[in-house]
Amino acid sequence: MATPHNRGEKGDFARTVLMPGDPLRAKFIARHFLENPRLVTDVRNMLGFTGTYGGKEISVMGAGMGMPSMGIYCHELFSFYDVDQIIRVGTAGSISQDCKVRDIVLAEGACTNSAFASQYRLKGTFAPTADFGLLNAAYTAAGKSGLSVKVGNVLSSDTFYCDDPDANDGWIRMGVLCIEMESAALYMEAARLHKKALSILTISDEILTGRELSSDQRERSFTDMMELALSIA
Ligand code: HPA
Repeated sequence: MATPHNRGEKGDFARTVLMPGDPLRAKFIARHFLENPRLVTDVRNMLGFTGTYGGKEISVMGAGMGMPSMGIYCHELFSFYDVDQIIRVGTAGSISQDCKVRDIVLAEGACTNSAFASQYRLKGTFAPTADFGLLNAAYTAAGKSGLSVKVGNVLSSDTFYCDDPDANDGWIRMGVLCIEMESAALYMEAARLHKKALSILTISDEILTGRELSSDQRERSFTDMMELALSIA
């Protein structure tokens, strides 16, 4: 049973799917971290693979950039492929003094400036949150591995290039840790479909200082994040 955006058949995906933004990163994860990975979808080059990790079946698929793209792919995985939990593995730009390049952020909540929630016709503001079981497992595993993790709110922004120079100020005042572009859609889809989700993010750049990860650091941080995600998958 293919969907408009996924040529996988029912049963092609594991109950747990890891989702980086970049489909080539999904391919890299499949090749370097999974055993016997097989390609299950490549519609629009949004590559998805299923293999095993420590004997357990795991899938990995790109989510693209932004909430509309994440919304499409995670909705289909949850509702047409019986996926139970999705762990986003991505990068984010820090807007907090407490959050430095190489830190790993567990997105407890995902604020957003997008209109994604308007479809639910709520009489107020929805608070998109991570699944507590996944969050707790990731926090505990990170502590055991000695990783520097922060837990808190992130901002899922609709814009990477923003015309408003003051756009981040209010979010900074509210203690939001970092900016990315997908988690709120993932958390809302998971809530609506009674599924589980967590975003694990490495800080790739500090928006307040302009500091960025070097390519060596990028590689190391990515591996730390992947090992953390796989340990709870
Ligand atoms: N903005 C949005 N998404 C991001 C950023 C950013 O600065 N850095 C990494 N992902």
